Amino acid sequence: MTVPLFDSETPLAPMRDAILARITEVVARGRYVLGPEVAAFEQELASYLGVRHVVGVANGTDAITIALRALGIRPGDEVVVPSFTFYATAEAVATAGARPVFCDVDRDTRNVTPESVHAVLTPRTKAIVAVDLFGCPAPIPRLRTLGLPVLEDAAQAAGACLDGRRAGSLGDVATFSFYPSKNLGCFGDGGAIATDDDGLAEHARALRFHGSRDKITFEYVGYNSRLDELQAAILRVLLPQLDVWSDGRRAAARAYEECGLQEHVGVPVPPPGAEPAWHLYIVTHPRPDELRAQLADQDIQARGYYRTPLHRQVAMAPYAGGPPLPVTDELARTNLALPMSPVLDQAQAREVVDAIAAVRV
Ligand SMILES: Cc1ncc(COP(=O)(O)O)c(C=O)c1O
Repeated sequence: MTVPLFDSETPLAPMRDAILARITEVVARGRYVLGPEVAAFEQELASYLGVRHVVGVANGTDAITIALRALGIRPGDEVVVPSFTFYATAEAVATAGARPVFCDVDRDTRNVTPESVHAVLTPRTKAIVAVDLFGCPAPIPRLRTLGLPVLEDAAQAAGACLDGRRAGSLGDVATFSFYPSKNLGCFGDGGAIATDDDGLAEHARALRFHGSRDKITFEYVGYNSRLDELQAAILRVLLPQLDVWSDGRRAAARAYEECGLQEHVGVPVPPPGAEPAWHLYIVTHPRPDELRAQLADQDIQARGYYRTPLHRQVAMAPYAGGPPLPVTDELARTNLALPMSPVLDQAQAREVVDAIAAVRV
């Protein structure tokens, strides 16, 4: 059987009628931007996360830029970011006018650590962006002891927890992406900012609408970055499924381990207290692309991620030149995403592990 890298269709199939009914309601109402669906979704996500405020925005990249601006980041400030992440994390820092400063990550969790962040701090550092990479929560509570505001980029981690707290509630502010392939994905682009800070939420709310609170007076040069009503209506149907789907992702990871995957490749090691919501299940292997090709021959999809880490990307050249990032370079070279979804079952996990065990590279 073919084992796909993702399967978002199977989990969505039972929800299709409910989604179409909600879309019909929105169309009948005829209000498409910043209406009751966005307001209700913001409240429902805030209550799910256990935070005071959620602000819906157009995508997860804008969410980071707007959250940084709302944190008070100004042109020329330095913001520490991992280099081993999706490009948008650092791009959004530069869009906010700040200077991304790249730090290394931990080999086991693939996340930044207080030590790796501390190594690149300067008197100009004004914030830390920590990514819950691949759905595994970063050590945000420990990062906060460094005394700088921490933005949690939870784009890949909806449904994860750390010490009983939801990913997206751990930093001074957190950001989400609802891009369709994400753990909580809508039917287009979407994003959100989550925070307990009343002032920050208010500022972000103005920034998403051209820097205005009342559509009459424009206080800041802001953005046109709103979550739209159709996406919010869809997300309201999907949010109640998120925990079930995240349990499915964790069960899939357990199935891989029960089948002995760790005997053949390096597997992720989440920190104590973490319940990851595996967005991607990333293993390591000395020759990952050869492994990928042999798995493809057996109809098993796999893919390397972030082969060129951000500090080596062309557009980031003005911000490169920091200390070497040996673990980032190693993970960029050796990682391979194996199939992962809320519905990946024991038989599929067995097939993937047996295929890897049989590979000779
Ligand atoms: C870690 C991370 N940050 C930010 C983003 C940006 O989100 P979006 O694509 O919604 O702009 C993504 C995903 O695409 C991501 O994976």
